[in-house]
Amino acid sequence: NGEMKTWNGPVSEVFSPVCVKTKDGLARKRIGSYPVCTEKESEEALNAAVAAYDNGRGKWPTMSVAERIKCVEDFTNKMIDKKDIVVKLIMWEIGKSYADSIKEFDRTVEYIYATIDSLKDLDRQSSRFEIEQGIIAQIRRSPLGVVLCMGPFNYPLNETFTTLIPALIMGNTLLFKPPKHGTLLHYPLLEAFQSSFPKGVINTIYGRGNKIIPALMESGKINVLTLIGSSKVANELKKLHPKVNRLRAILGLDAKNAAIITKDVDLDLAVKETVLGSLSFNGQRCTAIKIVYVHRSLAQEFLKKLSEEVAKLKFGMPWESGVSLTPLPEPNKPAYLQECITDAVANGAKVVNENGGQTLESFVYPAILYPVNDKMKLYREEQFGPLIPVVPFDDLEEPIEYLISSPHGQQVSIFSRNAAIISSLIDPLVNQVSRVNINCQCQRGPDSFPFTGRKDSAEGTLSVFDAIRSFSIRSLVAAKYTDDNKK
Ligand code: G3H
Repeated sequence: NGEMKTWNGPVSEVFSPVCVKTKDGLARKRIGSYPVCTEKESEEALNAAVAAYDNGRGKWPTMSVAERIKCVEDFTNKMIDKKDIVVKLIMWEIGKSYADSIKEFDRTVEYIYATIDSLKDLDRQSSRFEIEQGIIAQIRRSPLGVVLCMGPFNYPLNETFTTLIPALIMGNTLLFKPPKHGTLLHYPLLEAFQSSFPKGVINTIYGRGNKIIPALMESGKINVLTLIGSSKVANELKKLHPKVNRLRAILGLDAKNAAIITKDVDLDLAVKETVLGSLSFNGQRCTAIKIVYVHRSLAQEFLKKLSEEVAKLKFGMPWESGVSLTPLPEPNKPAYLQECITDAVANGAKVVNENGGQTLESFVYPAILYPVNDKMKLYREEQFGPLIPVVPFDDLEEPIEYLISSPHGQQVSIFSRNAAIISSLIDPLVNQVSRVNINCQCQRGPDSFPFTGRKDSAEGTLSVFDAIRSFSIRSLVAAKYTDDNKK
């Protein structure tokens, strides 16, 4: 009912990707537990959000923008006080390195402040009156209702807050389900949610998404679904809504971003950017490079340099300095990655780099696979892990065809020194994917840039500027501009 609840019900144990020695060998360390809400409890939380919105008459949706900003600022100050513990939990829960966990936290805080600035600008524009054809109008942005917000495990704080904060600050009320791997790190912020916002404005639920979310969607009480995660889950959830045409969806979904290495490339640069793009946070980024097309004439040299560059990466625990390869949080992921490797090898590819694919419990050493072809899982499936499938090509039409026939459409990176080739590729590619990177890796940032995707990769656009628009609707208050109301 919008209040903190003491939990006496069942819990789910949380295991870190960091392993400890036990008498039976290595095992993931238990680091806590979270409540497993029933359908009834999640429905109560949803009803609290519905009551706080009160069909747009609630305290929060009718509050001035300045007051809402104050609440978000108050929350952010409290969040900053919790930085140490949140960063520690990011490291322990999802195995992200200390440097990257700090980056994730700071980037989130910067995103919140940038959202506040952007909303202040928008609000200044809304306070002007426009007069056209004898009508005077104030054009504003109004909230949409109740938002169901679900973030991903790979950026459990940042990606969650890049939808949660804009949704909140625009006057919507929220039901928030933290990701399965990345739940504990939200605990230190619960108290701040409770004390900074009116009752029922933000309601956190825990448990198994596939058990509790379907009924919430079927209730028809959700106005906006925001999910950074799988395209399959998003499609299934949308279908459950009884009035899907009234549901707004802001989604960041599957991607299979390609790098295209043309024959007149700066090879060292291409290799460095490919490694960053494919293996940052062990390849667990929706923006990661997940397949590499290399011109056949330089494939062997590229693979040699790529293997050397991968060998330089430091493997270790999240808190070790300079570490970039860390244990994987999803327990099934090592087995899935092995399956992809076995399938690729059975269909004619080789693991090119030394130790590629070696696995020890939650650690998987990166594997470069060559030559990859369309019979292999890795050709189309999003591996979301440290595997680099490499495909040789003779004609640039081949990678273009790959992207045209792909169900995904997020990003591509072109590596070339030839300006004519680059410019000939830009138009065909930018009409397939939502971002074309030239001589640099695929990535989301800076956060002021639009972040979206074509086809099954996204719905709606996020960025500081776009998100506050995505979670609101343009509305206006209008009157006749007569001598009487001129005053
Ligand atoms: O997982 C998807 C993230 O939005 C990736 O963000 O490119 O900054 O790592 P990033």
